[in-house]
Amino acid sequence: MNPRFILKDKVGPQGVGAGVWNLGPGGDPFGGPTREAIPFIDRIPMLAEAGMSYFEAHDVEIPATDAEKALKVAEANGMKCGMYTPSFFADSIFKDGAMTSNVASIRAKGLENAKLAVDTTHVLGAKTMVFWNGREGFDFVLAKNGQDSFKRLVEGFNAVAQYSKEKYGDAIRFAIEPKPNEPRANMYLATVGEVLYLISRLDPAIQHLFGVNPETAHSRIAGLDYIWDVEMALEANKLFHIHLNAQDGQRYDQDLPFGYTEPLKDLALLVVLQDAKYDGIVCFDVKAPRTDDPKNIKDILEVSGNNLVWLWERALAVDRKVIAQLRAENRATAIAGYLAKCLYGR
Ligand code: GLC
Ligand code: MN
Repeated sequence: MNPRFILKDKVGPQGVGAGVWNLGPGGDPFGGPTREAIPFIDRIPMLAEAGMSYFEAHDVEIPATDAEKALKVAEANGMKCGMYTPSFFADSIFKDGAMTSNVASIRAKGLENAKLAVDTTHVLGAKTMVFWNGREGFDFVLAKNGQDSFKRLVEGFNAVAQYSKEKYGDAIRFAIEPKPNEPRANMYLATVGEVLYLISRLDPAIQHLFGVNPETAHSRIAGLDYIWDVEMALEANKLFHIHLNAQDGQRYDQDLPFGYTEPLKDLALLVVLQDAKYDGIVCFDVKAPRTDDPKNIKDILEVSGNNLVWLWERALAVDRKVIAQLRAENRATAIAGYLAKCLYGR
């Protein structure tokens, strides 16, 4: 058993989390699974063994009917639920989206699922429910009316939050996770900026319950700088959750181990989170690669966790005065050099 990864001196929760879906059987669009699927609840102790303190799950992985059982397993393994999320993408009825479907009965089904997910979030004791924009979007122009779609998103989020507020007050917050494409050619809520705009259009009575869950790979797929996406969310006081991983440029979503592709920028990101006193949970959204053998399925979590703790501690040691001085001297390149020294230097 790995000791739990702990982020020293972090404000708020210092443990780290990951999704139960991260330990999948390894299928991709071109070939089936390469490992036997592990029952979702059995993945909770595996996450603990890999050093996690929090698990995350979709309603299709740990449905409402399994919530009590999952909670017992979690408690026995010193785990808590970091966030819960309704899947608006797996079921074929959501093939053209849930909240933005053109079919009223499918939108109603999406809302019903979302409300049930609020209740399950409550049972699991999580403080955050995530909405990922999975199939909200379009592959062909004019297949949907964009203005109607936006209105439907606003109405859908308002309705879910009003339901939650009536039952649980402000106990559950909602973090919207942007992604620009995949599985759809064009997804609504593509970027952090778009999510912040949407939040500004929600019912003022529930706006404070909505924030962002930015994911490294999703920003990089959009060709955007992840640090700025995170800074923008922080400035708006809307960084409710975070999904860390890595990504090789603008291609399909890889969900690589955190720290793998751009460690220097990851170091800078952690400086930003530390200075902003980010007090939410830090979670990975990484995918055990298809090529890893079943016995090594947890490697991706252990590699991500080690990279995070190492970079976190290096970030604590970054001398903020040096950065401020170099900034004042207009020496951006030298700042990059100083970060490299913090990362690679002896
Ligand atoms: C899917 C997405 C992931 C998101 C999760 C939660 O697994 O790939 O990025 O965080 O759903 O809804
Ligand atoms: Mn994610």
